[in-house]
Amino acid sequence: MGSVESKLDELRRQLNDYSYRYHVLDDPVVPDAEYDRLYQELVKLEHEYPELVTRDSPTQRVGEQPLGEFSEVAHELPMLSLDNAFSNEDLNAFDKRVRDRLDLAEVQYTAEVKLDGLAISLLYEHGKLVRAATRGDGTTGEDVTSNIRTIKSIPLALRTTGFPGRLEVRGEVFISKTGFEELNNRQRAQEEKIFANPRNAAAGSLRQLDSRITAARPLQFFAHGIGIVDAGEIPESHFDILQSLKSWGLPVSAETERVAGMEQCIGFYRRIADIRAQLPYEIDGIVFKVDDLEHQAELGFVSRAPRWAIACKFPPEEAVTEVLDIEVQVGRTGALTPVARLSPVRVGGVTVTNATLHNADEVQRKDVRVGDTVIIRRAGDVIPEVVRVIPEKRQEGSQAFTMPAQCPVCHSPAERVEGEAAIRCSGGLYCRAQAIQSIIHFASRTAMDIEGLGDKLVEQLFNEGLIRDISDLFHLDHEQVAALERMGNKSAENLLQAIEASKNTRFDKFLYALGIREVGQTTARNLATHFQLDEIREATQEDLCQVRDIGPVVADNIVRFFRDERNVAIVGKVISAGVVWESMRADDATELQGKTFVITGTLASLSRNEAKERLISRGAKVSGSVSARTDYLVAGENPGSKLDKARSLDVRVLDEAGLFEILGRDEDV
Ligand code: IVH
Repeated sequence: MGSVESKLDELRRQLNDYSYRYHVLDDPVVPDAEYDRLYQELVKLEHEYPELVTRDSPTQRVGEQPLGEFSEVAHELPMLSLDNAFSNEDLNAFDKRVRDRLDLAEVQYTAEVKLDGLAISLLYEHGKLVRAATRGDGTTGEDVTSNIRTIKSIPLALRTTGFPGRLEVRGEVFISKTGFEELNNRQRAQEEKIFANPRNAAAGSLRQLDSRITAARPLQFFAHGIGIVDAGEIPESHFDILQSLKSWGLPVSAETERVAGMEQCIGFYRRIADIRAQLPYEIDGIVFKVDDLEHQAELGFVSRAPRWAIACKFPPEEAVTEVLDIEVQVGRTGALTPVARLSPVRVGGVTVTNATLHNADEVQRKDVRVGDTVIIRRAGDVIPEVVRVIPEKRQEGSQAFTMPAQCPVCHSPAERVEGEAAIRCSGGLYCRAQAIQSIIHFASRTAMDIEGLGDKLVEQLFNEGLIRDISDLFHLDHEQVAALERMGNKSAENLLQAIEASKNTRFDKFLYALGIREVGQTTARNLATHFQLDEIREATQEDLCQVRDIGPVVADNIVRFFRDERNVAIVGKVISAGVVWESMRADDATELQGKTFVITGTLASLSRNEAKERLISRGAKVSGSVSARTDYLVAGENPGSKLDKARSLDVRVLDEAGLFEILGRDEDV
């Protein structure tokens, strides 16, 4: 190695070491100025020898050319969520279930803080960070590698040795309390958007297409688990895995302990609850995870959450304030929601100015009036709510609140549907509020994902008369859009391109985007794997009830939606505008529907991701670990321990040919 190369190497090693000391060990060894001096030296030397710049050099974190859009990443192992416990009884019941299933008197857990941030997957191959993805819906996320590379506490290359050749680290990206304050001060000074809380600030920062903007945001990271592990060994307990991750250079929260039995769990919970306000970052609870990995595998999963972990949420935070006014908002489905406008008050580090009163029954029950002094509550990310009125503080002569008989926006009669708490505007899409909300929903990220078409812009387009319903989005005229206030040529072009790009979609996203009442992402996916659009349009309530998780109420909503000719006409116009998708129907539904697969090892003719997508599109579930509930293990080359586990549990094992056979001969594989 030449002397320049070894000098560069030495500088990088030293900088990485200082950074590790600072971010992971929380034990800085040099003043910032010394770090900066070495960094500048490295910048200068790399500038002289650009051919010697490496991808994982500390200088390569400043952000890159903006992306047109984020590409999708299918998670090889789904990113799950956690079940919640809200009381000691819930926690005890969880521990009992675990003990019963494992047949143990006491179980060892790793206790961690529940960070209020965004779940992220980091993929390291041969120790280099090659890809970072958001959780998304747990199955598919977005590739945010360029953004993640700008986070200084995330190593671009792992330290030391002994890590697996392929290792997926999972954790949370967040912004500290002080980082949040500073960011908002800066935003205010630049007349930019103010973030409501650290979590939103982190989400907004991570979703920047221009990673140079992300680089200027104070994002941090803590690892809390792993996903894929290939070509290598990892410890057999979760706590030890976290220690290994630390030794490989990944930050882990210092508030992490191994505990045994309920008493210690509760002790940990209390200790953290006491110091919660002093922690530098926001947390919304404690997570307990069964420590032993074999035990975890034995316990397995139920739907989207593991049986071996539980989140104990902290009780919501409360504050006292005054109701300045009560307004009625109209939602996407016409539901009228009374909202209390409040005298601004700080709750859990956030200033709150509105609280939902849910619906007419709630307002009546709580008897909230304008001028009242009330207790409000904020729980995590949900909209704050009014808990109760303080009656002693009520002013004389105050008037009880009544819901309006007409929609406050379109003045159509407000109706109460039998058996529902909600009072709804009967104006349907003729109601401006409903029309705007339905377009906002259509364009949203989990629906048609029209990049850059947010609430404000939809309102602007609507108010200018450029759109009346979702189908009009596909006929927007460049000149008209560019002429809008705060728009201009470039933004108009970007918007039209994003709309064009959204035309290539997935059937479930399209169905979800239509905003049929109670058809969420999961229902949409189930429908999409069962039917084609024309079949759904013609389906009876009975037909629809054949689909997994669809009951009579949802089925009725779907039937009603397609019975309305206005809806049918709008859907028709969207499709003639060129919106397309590939069929997701599970042709072999009877064979694969609801069956659980695990895929391990390397497949010769397709990636594990592709195999997984095909199985899912046929109605199967794909899980990350083998348990007694696994129906099939698909084993490629070098299958590892999952194969042994499957054999010990008598799970059917398929090789690649077996997989194709089960996928059906008619498929073009
Ligand atoms: S473990 C299989 N550990 O909470 C377990 N999650 O409700 C998956 N979160 O999406 C997550 N702190 O974003 C885990 N110490 C922690 C966590 C944590 C925060 C978030 C994470 C996840 C969500 C699940």
